[in-house]
Amino acid sequence: MGRHLISARDLSKEEVESLWTLYREFKGGRRELLEGDVALLFLESSTRTRLSFEKACRLLGLRTYYVGRGESSMEKGESFYETVKTLGALGFGAFIFRVPFVFFPYGQYLGEGMALINAGDGTHQHPTQGLIDLFTALEVFSTLEGVKVVYFGDLLHSRVFRSGAYLFKLFGARLGVCGPRTLVPADLSPFGVEQVFDSPEEAIEWADLCVWLRLQEERFQENYVPSKESYFLQFGLTAERHKKLKGYFMHPGPVNLYVDVEAQVLYSQKSLVLEQVRNGLFVRMAVLYRAIANG
Ligand code: CP
Repeated sequence: MGRHLISARDLSKEEVESLWTLYREFKGGRRELLEGDVALLFLESSTRTRLSFEKACRLLGLRTYYVGRGESSMEKGESFYETVKTLGALGFGAFIFRVPFVFFPYGQYLGEGMALINAGDGTHQHPTQGLIDLFTALEVFSTLEGVKVVYFGDLLHSRVFRSGAYLFKLFGARLGVCGPRTLVPADLSPFGVEQVFDSPEEAIEWADLCVWLRLQEERFQENYVPSKESYFLQFGLTAERHKKLKGYFMHPGPVNLYVDVEAQVLYSQKSLVLEQVRNGLFVRMAVLYRAIANG
């Protein structure tokens, strides 16, 4: 895949290790100015991904051009393929996109001379968030070999799970999931999940690291849970469950309070939520550096 980053599954362990080295250097204060123009097209809302990508571009000396929902010619019926061709013709060095649809297959999109960087596509992939979660965990555990990671909640709609599970597995972690059966994919074999828990208490007992996910109601096509209140009581990180955590918990954000996580524990000593946000800047600097400096 070279400079592109569309799916975490395209990354070999060596490529992730090379991104890890860049990430550590940028986090340690390395600063280097590149030359180029970066287009950002966000057809879905975003706070941390958009702003950390924009900030990462500016720290690297890259010029940013932002197009939001309702602003592109896709509103007038232009396809995503024609959009990519157009941005390539305009000479952008990289194109960062967040879209509500699954971007797959993508082979035919890769020849425009600019790097394609996926900032979240439908329920498919969110590779930079997967790298954030992996690198945040690597800083806590040093090695993930045999570390037991459990994802909680809405796995069915989670591109964060699809990217992160692959990367955790690549680094030797053991995987579990816990959520309503309606929100757990029927076939977990592509992810190497070895434990499916119905009880959060049992999952917490097993886990070294817990990752809560957001209940993605905007993607619901039917009522997957009886109510948000019952979902929180059955599967959310309540204060009572938080007491039982053996180690840290993560959440990629945005967090729905009292749906995913109880407010009083969100920024507790066991929380890595803000560390994930902080690390996002350096992950995105690493990904942009790989995309532009080697272009
Ligand atoms: N984690 C994540 O993608 O957050 P945003 O939607 O705020 O970018």
